Amino acid sequence: MNTLALAERLAEEHDLEDGELLQLLERRDPETGEYLRRQAQTTARAQYGNQVYIRGLIEFTNYCKNDCYYCGIRKSNQRARRYRLTAGEILACCDMGYALGFRTFVLQGGEDPWFTDGRLCALVSDIRERYPDCAVTLSVGERSRESYRLLKEAGAQRYLLRHETATERHYRQLHPPGMELSRRMACLHTLRELGYQVGAGFMVGSPGQSPEDLVRDLRFLKEFRPHMVGIGPFLRQQDTPFRDCPNGSGELTLFLLSVIRLLLPETLLPATTALGTLLPDGREAGILHGANVVMPNLSPEDARGKYLLYDNKLASGAEAAECLEQLRESLGKIGYEIPVSRGDSRIETA
Ligand code: 5AD
Repeated sequence: MNTLALAERLAEEHDLEDGELLQLLERRDPETGEYLRRQAQTTARAQYGNQVYIRGLIEFTNYCKNDCYYCGIRKSNQRARRYRLTAGEILACCDMGYALGFRTFVLQGGEDPWFTDGRLCALVSDIRERYPDCAVTLSVGERSRESYRLLKEAGAQRYLLRHETATERHYRQLHPPGMELSRRMACLHTLRELGYQVGAGFMVGSPGQSPEDLVRDLRFLKEFRPHMVGIGPFLRQQDTPFRDCPNGSGELTLFLLSVIRLLLPETLLPATTALGTLLPDGREAGILHGANVVMPNLSPEDARGKYLLYDNKLASGAEAAECLEQLRESLGKIGYEIPVSRGDSRIETA
């Protein structure tokens, strides 16, 4: 079958056989890409209208006990300037975000043991108490079932934990011994069982990634059906073992956004910071390829310059109302608006 015919089937049936997905990825051409883009945009609009949801990202600690080969805040990076925001600083980010119209706060950090269950739960319940109409999303890596349970009880409703790759061999290429794909997957299942809205995802073009690996990622996503799927290009960071590896492709990332929108019409799909860093107008391009979420940075300026997962990370955020206004304007030009809303997923929770 030619690739356009495969793309048409994907748009109609929201699935393809693994072999067909592989063909679609390997033989993709601009015509097929444009067809999928239009279908993905139409599908996103059928689900979420012309609304693009925003989440306020608060990068609250860059301490990390892990040593992932791709990541700039890995523990072996002696050049990372480490910081932890205080509860007061985090709440100040929320105050500012709330005034700007954010109704979801994403607390993202490295796996920092200083943030015990007690400290993290206190933080979550403080935010929920202060802003009962807002959702709190956590993105703090692998923790025990008991920890996830306590955090849920404290008021966190959502959790982002990218699976990074659904292939054992590839997972070992990206992570040091001791990190296991099976544990990552077990965490994702636990989070779902506990009733969180769960986000999974992966980097496009990470070192060692084959087209077959990408097909396994897509199959995993289709079967797991996360509430959110975060994908962005791999971008090298100068102080990591992958410093000399090529960046992921923007074109392939956009193509995969469209494919994921068609595989999972109801999922929340962010146009990520990494995509915005790689491509000029990357976030807008993401929306036009089927994404429906953007996550502006609410972290204090000084923290932002230190949360360097990769080189040249886009640091423009929403700290000033103007930045959000600019985003509103550029999305307005392509026909979208940003509601003042929590922006829940249409996928049911456990
Ligand atoms: N390039 C792109 N994305 C990265 N992440 C970490 N390091 C990089 C990098 N060098 C992504 C991972 C992680 C998320 C928070 O950021 O997928 O899950």
